[in-house]
Amino acid sequence: MPTVGLGASGPIVSRLALGTMTFGVETDERDAHRQLDTFVAAGGTFVDTADVYGAGDSERIIGRWIERRGGADDLIIATKGRFAPPAGSHGASRRSLRRSVDASLHRLGVEAIDLYVVHGWDEHTPVAETLGTLTSLVRDGKIHAIGWSNVTGWQLQQIVTTATLGGHISPVTVQPQYNLLDRGIEIEVMPCALDAGLAITPWSPLGGGWLTGKYERTRRPTGATRLGDDPDRGVEAYDLRNTDRTWRIIDEATAVAAEHGRPASHVALAWLLARPGVASVLLGARTVEQLDDNLAAVDLVLDATQLDRLTRVSAIDLPPYPYGMIEDFCDVDVWQRLGTTDTPT
Ligand SMILES: NC(=O)c1ccc[n+]([C@@H]2O[C@H](COP(=O)([O-])OP(=O)(O)OC[C@H]3O[C@@H](n4cnc5c(N)ncnc54)[C@H](OP(=O)(O)O)[C@@H]3O)[C@@H](O)[C@H]2O)c1
Repeated sequence: MPTVGLGASGPIVSRLALGTMTFGVETDERDAHRQLDTFVAAGGTFVDTADVYGAGDSERIIGRWIERRGGADDLIIATKGRFAPPAGSHGASRRSLRRSVDASLHRLGVEAIDLYVVHGWDEHTPVAETLGTLTSLVRDGKIHAIGWSNVTGWQLQQIVTTATLGGHISPVTVQPQYNLLDRGIEIEVMPCALDAGLAITPWSPLGGGWLTGKYERTRRPTGATRLGDDPDRGVEAYDLRNTDRTWRIIDEATAVAAEHGRPASHVALAWLLARPGVASVLLGARTVEQLDDNLAAVDLVLDATQLDRLTRVSAIDLPPYPYGMIEDFCDVDVWQRLGTTDTPT
């Protein structure tokens, strides 16, 4: 499995990471441990969890697996905190994060968390307080590196600038939703990450399952799938995503996949791995079979024409103001910098 360093100074990880949001929810402990074994056997070294996944069960399940195999020194374990604050605290505050980190360390059964990710923006807590807390947690030896998830461009820039000017630890990663169906981060978050040298580690690389091509245009999902369980679930909700644009993208991914004799999901993952700044992609799986299938995408290389077809069919419009106007008077082409030819006019 190819590896990559996260940002300027972060750990070295496999380009495919194992996301564990299903552990303790759709995936029981036995199958979760099988997923972890399968992932490591394939050369995977990067595992992503969060304190809120399965209300702590994901971390507990990983912790018991680490105990069974006698440690995790060969792996990079990332977890997240922010959305389970103690009563009376805001999520990214000193009081909340110190408790969250201690609780995660206990559930995972490790001495330190390799990458601690703030799970989302907290409008009530000054960024300097969060960064100061994380810096002291590094000094305490409880976390080794930090990242942020679910932020806008200006929020990410504020985090980076506050870290630099305040002498705090700087983030090495940003963890946003990013896939062929949702390219919103390209407008602000991705340029900021590229400028600051942050590694992008996308979540929902298959759009919650859509990019496997398993959902249908004219039939609402049923059965043991994410949207069969709950068609209204989150960003991947059936009515939200069942649009002409989605089907155009799935059709193109399926056509490219046929040229390689692969499933559309491999094409979606290969496109994502080729995007600027994308370091490691967080796979999600309900079953070991799905994980096996997704891990097999790692050796698919799309040629420039195929990448361009996918990039074009999934292009999003950049608002003419301020972006178009700035491009007129500055020598900066945001879209060229992102390695795409779909420059909006
Ligand atoms: N920071 C954040 O806020 C955030 C948010 C979400 C996720 N994450 C992280 O990112 C990871 C991945 O996100 P995600 O689970 O949304 O990723 P995803 O790859 O977009 O969706 C995964 C889901 O798609 C279906 N699937 C996956 N592979 C398949 C295959 N080969 N064939 C058929 N169906 C397949 C499965 O759902 P069904 O079988 O149930 O349909 C699986 O649970 C998570 O585990 C978590 O670590 C982070």
